[in-house]
Amino acid sequence: MQGRYIVTGGHPLAGEVMLQGAKNAVLPILAASLLCRRCQLLGCPDLTDVDSACHILEYLGCRTRREGDVLTTEFNGSGKSEIPAPLMEEMRSSIIFLSVMIARYHQAVISMPGGCQLGPRPIDYHLAALEKMGVQVRRDQGKLYCRCEGRLTGAQIALPFPSVGATETVLLAAVTARGETVLTNAAREPEIADLIGFLRRCGAKIRLCAGGDIAVEGVDRLEGCIYPVMADRIVLSTYLSLLAAAGGEICIRRGSREHNKAFCHLCETMGMRLWESGGDLYARVAGRLKSPGKVRTMPYPGFPTDSQPMFLAACTLAEGTSVFTETIFENRFGAAYELGKMGARINIADRIAIVEGVPALTAARLRCPDLRGGASLVVAAAAAEGSSTIEEIHHILRGYENFAPNLRGLGVDIIEERG
Ligand code: UD1
Repeated sequence: MQGRYIVTGGHPLAGEVMLQGAKNAVLPILAASLLCRRCQLLGCPDLTDVDSACHILEYLGCRTRREGDVLTTEFNGSGKSEIPAPLMEEMRSSIIFLSVMIARYHQAVISMPGGCQLGPRPIDYHLAALEKMGVQVRRDQGKLYCRCEGRLTGAQIALPFPSVGATETVLLAAVTARGETVLTNAAREPEIADLIGFLRRCGAKIRLCAGGDIAVEGVDRLEGCIYPVMADRIVLSTYLSLLAAAGGEICIRRGSREHNKAFCHLCETMGMRLWESGGDLYARVAGRLKSPGKVRTMPYPGFPTDSQPMFLAACTLAEGTSVFTETIFENRFGAAYELGKMGARINIADRIAIVEGVPALTAARLRCPDLRGGASLVVAAAAAEGSSTIEEIHHILRGYENFAPNLRGLGVDIIEERG
């Protein structure tokens, strides 16, 4: 599906929005549902990435049904253990199905995963961990052939870097493995905690040790459960970036600082006012914000790489110079060229972007480079004088539910044209 947004900027925001369920929590939970008989996910966001995950689940022998924001999965036992390349390419996180397929069928065949163009995105940590748990991995003609003799076996695994995806792979492999798995240097992102919450509710035995290790005692099988998906902290940071750029006052229903402390702290440093009341987050910006100075992306609880593009777009309008250092992905300044068309002053050298704030941006014809880069163009367009056209919004629809209607609720003048 191709489509575009027409965004007419230059007015302060006013209004409210309900925060959607978290994409990065629901995708591994959906993969985990392959290990269960029947699950119901409440608050499941309606996203093309969720559709892609459901296509894979259906292909692997799991029926999926959506009623409003409730997604039901039902395993019917007649699955295959190979994901065809077109399904793998629909999204990068399809790698998350590798360990559940091996746990379920003791074998799996996948082609190399697709997704955002943020750099090479290797899967060596995933494969090394699975090998320690008894999987033999063979590569041939761009495909990975994985097999293990019977059940996976628990192991001591230390990740070289707290990778979110590799942590999920190990958790999903370990919950039904024989014996205990202890994972060191695990990722601590809130979406990992949500996956653990889901797995525990299905009967998994998972212990969080002092120092951050995760210990998993394998069980014979998982039961199903009913589970509410956590709110999306990256979408929350998108709304706050919009407010930082355009000014005004908004209310984010279900919003909180809880999983966004590093992000909210920088917003407050710039001069945004934030307060919580009745389970919602309120934010106000009056006048031009100051630059936050240095912004460095880090694993949680540091500043999230996924929020960086939208926040950078907001900083193009702040007073003073901001210096962004991207430590997680190599190619995460993909929107800078497009922002330059609007008059933003950004210089990039390797993993550092230096942003000299300008007093105003002007409308332009823009093209989304990837999911968060696309959202960052909407942030800039909502603040720019005049009407911008943003092409290739299918990237944005991977991660934002009802984006245009939700933004209209916040007072953004945005029209979505499908075509
Ligand atoms: C997940 C999120 C993504 C987010 C990222 C970091 C999902 C669906 N995606 O991606 O939105 O930006 O966490 O918070 O949840 N690495 C390796 N080898 C591996 C795995 C990772 O070298 O086997 C490197 C990557 O190249 C990258 C770093 O580790 O430099 C972090 O990647 P990782 O945390 O694994 O990100 P994803 O799970 O892909």
